[in-house]
Amino acid sequence: MQMPTILIAYDTTEGQTRKIAQHVADVIARSGRKVQVIDIRRPPTSFTMDGFDAIVIGASIHMSKHSRQLTEFVRRHIARLNAVPSGFFSVSLSAAGSEKEREEAGRFVEEFLIQTGWNPAIKATLAGGLLYREYGFLKRWMMKKIAGNGGKDTDTSRNHEYTDWNAADQFVARFLEPQGKS
Ligand SMILES: Cc1cc2nc3c(=O)[nH]c(=O)nc-3n(C[C@H](O)[C@H](O)[C@H](O)COP(=O)(O)O)c2cc1C
Repeated sequence: MQMPTILIAYDTTEGQTRKIAQHVADVIARSGRKVQVIDIRRPPTSFTMDGFDAIVIGASIHMSKHSRQLTEFVRRHIARLNAVPSGFFSVSLSAAGSEKEREEAGRFVEEFLIQTGWNPAIKATLAGGLLYREYGFLKRWMMKKIAGNGGKDTDTSRNHEYTDWNAADQFVARFLEPQGKS
């Protein structure tokens, strides 16, 4: 029997979602499946969704939404996405916040799924980070203000990671369950 091949596609701006996607890919690969990781903004030439038995997409939130590039990618591949087992993890600062903020992180996901018509079996909101060292001057200043108001780290001399790697592992475990319960 051929080994199932799983696509892990990610959409990142500062790099945290890439890091989580790579972790997800490593865990899935260790379970004996073949994986391919792609950046949705720079897919390999002649990339096609055909041939993948399951698909995971990870993407981050900026200004209360997922990116236009992600929306376009999901809409372009909607038939395939809804035809095979698929999972979605959304990365944000809200996912690292209070109960109200975590609810908001969930709403970003639901709004995106309604907008695109995608119906992933497994969904998760995962905490991202404050990658001050990757921001330009203005973005660093703005994010420091937002972080201060939200009780998050304001030391801009380094990056701050809030990602709960156990939560990422749980997402993978649910995704790999044969019947994929949400
Ligand atoms: C300019 C900017 C705007 C952001 N807006 C939001 C937001 O509206 N809600 C939120 O929960 N997180 C927000 N974040 C936090 C990001 O989701 C978080 O930094 C995440 O780790 C980014 O992932 P990435 O590095 O894969 O792009 C914002 C971050 C930046 C830099």
